[in-house]
Amino acid sequence: MRRKLVAGNWKMHGSLEANARLLGSLTSGNAGSGNAACAVLVPFPYLAQTQTLLKGSACRWGAQNLGEHPSGAYTGEVAGAMLAEFGCTYVTVGHSERRALYHEDDATVARKAVAARKAGLTPIVCLGETLAEREAGQTEAVVERQLEAVLNVAGVQAIAESVVAYEPVWAIGTGKTASPEQAQEVHAFLRELLARRDAKVAAEVSILYGGSVKGANAESLFAMPDVDGGLVGGASLVAEEFLTIWRAADRLAS
Ligand code: 13P
Repeated sequence: MRRKLVAGNWKMHGSLEANARLLGSLTSGNAGSGNAACAVLVPFPYLAQTQTLLKGSACRWGAQNLGEHPSGAYTGEVAGAMLAEFGCTYVTVGHSERRALYHEDDATVARKAVAARKAGLTPIVCLGETLAEREAGQTEAVVERQLEAVLNVAGVQAIAESVVAYEPVWAIGTGKTASPEQAQEVHAFLRELLARRDAKVAAEVSILYGGSVKGANAESLFAMPDVDGGLVGGASLVAEEFLTIWRAADRLAS
């Protein structure tokens, strides 16, 4: 059975002081029976603090980006092996903000997923359509292109060791959540695409939903058969909200 996962993407938020409070709440707030996994994805400078404060807890941690090369003259980049040294489990690749604001294309995302696997990290491969693409009826074509790009470079076995996150761009930070049915439709489509390559991988890979997940809507989203948890932005910065989301996943996983 697929394990439910709730991952909080802090984006470019935080401070040593605020993080200490938030991470402290995650370790002390009883978030269920341990059926659902939890992680926070923090800005690079806070990895050491996060490692110190979360070590031994039920919550794992990771980063939001990595360089595609293992080392070298790439000013400003951070290698997967460096993230592994700080105990990271996960790293997001292909987040829509990286694609839109930093011009990361499908091929770059695929190379980053491979680099993450080489470093022993679990990539959370993000994909999703814009509002214009949805309105033009292109949702399936867009997510298929994005997923196939990774499959073609990394191979289906790498996806078995990854997490996929469907994040419709129109739902990110807008307060406009996809309905559980809309999310389920795309998740089922993604699983079907994977099944064409490998039925076992398709059945086992976790597909998270992201885009305005809150305490109030988490349970109805995560209850859908192909929604295996959430990639949470804004609500992951509010301890009680994030704990509520984690508990919802935990209840459904038990
Ligand atoms: P919000 O939950 O703030 O909509 O952000 C979603 C997201 O981008 C997570 O990666």
